[in-house]
Amino acid sequence: MKIVERIADLRAARQGAGKVGLVPTMGFLHDGHLSLIRAARSASETVVMSLFVNPTQFGPSEDFEAYPRDTPRDLDLARETGVDIVFMPSTGEVYPPGFDTWVEAGKLAERWEGEHRPGHFRGVATVVVKLLQIVQPDLAYFGEKDYQQLLIVKKMVADLNLPVEIIPCPIVREASGLALSSRNAYLADDRRPRAAVLYRAMQRAQKLASSGVDDVSLLIAEMKMVVGQEPAAHLEYLAVVDRDSLQPTGQLGVEARILGAMGFDGVRLIDNAPLRLGTDDD
Ligand code: PAF
Repeated sequence: MKIVERIADLRAARQGAGKVGLVPTMGFLHDGHLSLIRAARSASETVVMSLFVNPTQFGPSEDFEAYPRDTPRDLDLARETGVDIVFMPSTGEVYPPGFDTWVEAGKLAERWEGEHRPGHFRGVATVVVKLLQIVQPDLAYFGEKDYQQLLIVKKMVADLNLPVEIIPCPIVREASGLALSSRNAYLADDRRPRAAVLYRAMQRAQKLASSGVDDVSLLIAEMKMVVGQEPAAHLEYLAVVDRDSLQPTGQLGVEARILGAMGFDGVRLIDNAPLRLGTDDD
C-alpha cells in the first residue's frame, strides 16, 4: 500500500492504475468505511482512500480540533481491507495560502444539516470536487449514513459534468441499531444502545407505514414520542422528506426518507431510513 501526501505524487501513482475507485474519508475508520473500501475493492483495479479531516466543513464552534484521529490504526485497517493508495494530504496541500474558490451546493443543501451547520456543505462540496479532480477516479463511494451529503454529491457531479460514477453504500449499524459514525467514539460504550433511540423511532414509523399508515404528521408524532422517552436525547430535527428533493412530504407516497438529528450526551448524531408505504422495510 502506497501512502501519498502530495498531489503531484498521487497523480504520478494514479498513472496506469486502471479502473480507480475512490473512498473519501476523514479517518478514524469503522466498519462503515470498511464496507465502502470492500465495495470499491470488488469493482476497481486500484482503490484509493483519502484520509483528510477537512477543516472547511466544520463550523467555528464545531469539533474540528477534537475530531477523533488515529492514523496508524487507519493505515493498518486500510492495508488489511485492500486499499492500494492512501492519499493523506496536509491542510496546506489542499488549501494553499490564498485559496479562494468554493463550490456552493444548491437547494438540496438548504435545509436539515445545511440549516443546522451553516457552511458545512460548501466545505464538503469543495473538498469532494477537489478530491475528484486530484484522484480522477472512475467510481467514488459514499455512505447513505450521510444521506443529504450523498444526494448533494450526486447532484454536483451531474451538474458539473464530472466524469465519475457515485456509488451509494448502505448504512452499517451496531447491533443496537446505532448507525456507525466516527463521532460515536465520543459516546461511552454503555450509552450507545440508548443513543440508538433515533433509529428505534424510525423503525416505529417504518412499521406503521408498512401496515398502511400514510399520515405523515402521525408518523412524526409517533417518532417524537419514542425519542421523548429517552431523556438524554434532544432532537434537532426529525422529518419525512421526498427521497430525491429532500423537501418535507405531507402524504406518504411509494417511498420517502426519514431524516433526523439529535444531541445525545452532548454528541451530535444523525441518521436516516427509508419509509415505504404498505411493504416490509429494512
Ligand atoms: O463523509 C465524510 O467523511 C466527509 O464529509 C467527506 C466526504 C470525506 C468529505 O470530507
